[in-house]
Amino acid sequence: MIHHNAYTKSIAAILLSIALVPHTQAKQADFMHNTVKQATTIESLATVNDWNQPANGVWITSIGDMSQELRYTDLAAEPPRIERLNTLGDPAFPFEADAIRYSINPDGRLMIRIPCGPDEKLYGYGLQLDKVNQTSRVLELNLDHWGLGGGRTHAPVPFYVSSKGYGVFFNTARFLKVYNQISNRKDATQRPPEVDRNPPVDEIASQPDKWQANPMGDSVEAAIRGSGLEVILFAGDSILEVVQRYNLYSGGGALPPLWGLGFWHRVHAHHNAAQVEAEVAEYSENRFPLDVIGLEPGWMTKSYPCTFEWQTKRFPDPQAFTQGLLDQGIRLNLWENPYISENAKLYEDMYPLSGSHTVWLGIVPDFTLPEARQLLTDQHNQDHLSIGISGYKMDEVDGYDRWLWPEHATFPSGNSAEALRQTYGLLLQKTLYQDLFKKQNQRTYSLVRASNGAASGYPFVIYSDSYDHEQYITGLSTASLCGILWTPEIRSAKSAREWLNRMQTVCFSPMANLNAWASGVKPWDFPEVTDAVRNVIELRMRLLPYFYSSFAAYNRDGIPPVRAMILEGGFENAGATVVEGELDGETNPYATGEIIEKNDQFMFGPSIMVAPFYQEHATERSVQLPAGNWYNFYTGEFVGNNTSIIVNAVELKDRTPLFVKEGAVIPMFSEAPLNSKAAKGQDITVRHYGRTTGRFQLYEDDATTFDYQRGASRIRTITVNANGNFDIQTEGSGPALFGRINHVEQMTK
Ligand code: GAL
Repeated sequence: MIHHNAYTKSIAAILLSIALVPHTQAKQADFMHNTVKQATTIESLATVNDWNQPANGVWITSIGDMSQELRYTDLAAEPPRIERLNTLGDPAFPFEADAIRYSINPDGRLMIRIPCGPDEKLYGYGLQLDKVNQTSRVLELNLDHWGLGGGRTHAPVPFYVSSKGYGVFFNTARFLKVYNQISNRKDATQRPPEVDRNPPVDEIASQPDKWQANPMGDSVEAAIRGSGLEVILFAGDSILEVVQRYNLYSGGGALPPLWGLGFWHRVHAHHNAAQVEAEVAEYSENRFPLDVIGLEPGWMTKSYPCTFEWQTKRFPDPQAFTQGLLDQGIRLNLWENPYISENAKLYEDMYPLSGSHTVWLGIVPDFTLPEARQLLTDQHNQDHLSIGISGYKMDEVDGYDRWLWPEHATFPSGNSAEALRQTYGLLLQKTLYQDLFKKQNQRTYSLVRASNGAASGYPFVIYSDSYDHEQYITGLSTASLCGILWTPEIRSAKSAREWLNRMQTVCFSPMANLNAWASGVKPWDFPEVTDAVRNVIELRMRLLPYFYSSFAAYNRDGIPPVRAMILEGGFENAGATVVEGELDGETNPYATGEIIEKNDQFMFGPSIMVAPFYQEHATERSVQLPAGNWYNFYTGEFVGNNTSIIVNAVELKDRTPLFVKEGAVIPMFSEAPLNSKAAKGQDITVRHYGRTTGRFQLYEDDATTFDYQRGASRIRTITVNANGNFDIQTEGSGPALFGRINHVEQMTK
């Protein structure tokens, strides 16, 4: 009989301790060693012992034969940033040398087993919209719509991070099933003790613990069907550093053009040129900022399947129409899905380069083939880019099984239907980014409905048809853990309050996107809140220098511009509460409990924390302030340190609950520009919060091309001390994008 000390606590007790440990103590426990060093011996499994180390804190191995498998990193936007990775420090390998084990099963499954202690919390696995914490869950990481749950989602990135300061990336484009701390092997040296579920009354007291529906396992076991499985480990001194390493290894974060961070409006799917122009005019009459107009399917001769050719009944002169908008500083984005109609000019040439099955009766190009990419990009360049189109919304590259190709479909490249399913969104991002926009030295900011591993370098933002506001807020956190950008787009609302709340959330996200494709709604359609809606869009516009610089840090250092609170020091354990399950013969026969965490706050840039109102918390909610001093964004007043407060919409005068860190330096435009074209050269006011010296790196480049990759950028480092005295140091000789820094406002009096 093997009983192990590590498991003498029940799961509930462990989880409860997660909830109750004070922040500072928890932080120390988590990061005391950045290594895990569990020694589990599983005699029946083979040991992984050939690790390659391409950079500090990164180790790669594979099991089986990878020669026929597609890796996510093969599809990354940019090469790994080895030099930058090596400047991040040199952490130790996070496990005992022989702790990671694997098996190749007779049924063809490859399984890898990564040790994981009962006290570790696991986060990640892509754009999961229900939870950040993935401890004790079984997930199927298959690319799909959000909604089925169980791990299937628009970006099921097979990457998790542990509270112990390491991350694991399964770098093979296959459906992956993971058992997080849930499978117990019979020959494990660490297993929880067996507990009788129905002991006689006089024996209850002597039971070692309470019976648990899911006895905590001591590992993450992950399996695929395929010939090879590559695994990459990332280590770090904090969860943030692990995520940074993952992003840097994936080529660094995306840098959108400045216009991408302005306000977006996608018009009704049936709008014609005159209706779009009228809507743009309404924006300026109502004094609402606008940077991008999105055309939905009706711009094409045929959609579902698509032709990618202009519908001239609606848009008689696409070139003049596009130019007319550009003259007003407004960019045009085109909706499309990649399935090709037999009416398309491209159809015949693409036919032999497509898979065995159709989607909406359109052929499915095999975009792993360079010839297929070339056909698409030549046509797009000629019909769209050459007349001034700035980006795309690549729809339907995810989808339930009944919509996409079956798993037995075949593709001319020989890649499996499964690998194509996992990477189709990535392949489209690669095609448009590398083969279309980058070749024209033009940056894009675009939308895509599916993504996967190693995607951080792609300037594409994911959206969904699901529309739960709370889940949309959770997505802002989970996306930040796996190199994904997510927009909690606004489409409609049942009340003015809901409209305002959703608008406030989307304005603090990577893309402020109003998607009126079905509703035709406009920002000012709820008159009671029109001023409040305008205010929040204007605030986003005023914050462009701050937010653009946050993206530059994503690009340069791998720090996500919008981030989960667990990436913030002082928040690791805040807000996690355990609800013990109650036995009920019909609804809960195993008395299963759950962990409820606080996922409804997130960071926007280096120092602003956002806590939106939503659903049942429509006008009042609690906010967890992490360790450290926090200030009211609007007034500069101190609000608390390591505590929970209640905020309400009346006191905030219908503004978004925003909190700022001690010492924060926030550069803002003095006035809200109507779009990013008008923003260029505009003067900046700097706000300083709290009583300690703070610093901000204000990034500038030409805002639209890739010249920054060849050094054409500059950074103005703004330092402000407690008295409001400031100093500016400029590095780099790139172009000036913003104007003078003409005022420093000491917000905390
Ligand atoms: C959906 C997409 C929507 C809209 C619509 C147009 O699949 O998610 O945002 O573009 O297609 O048909």
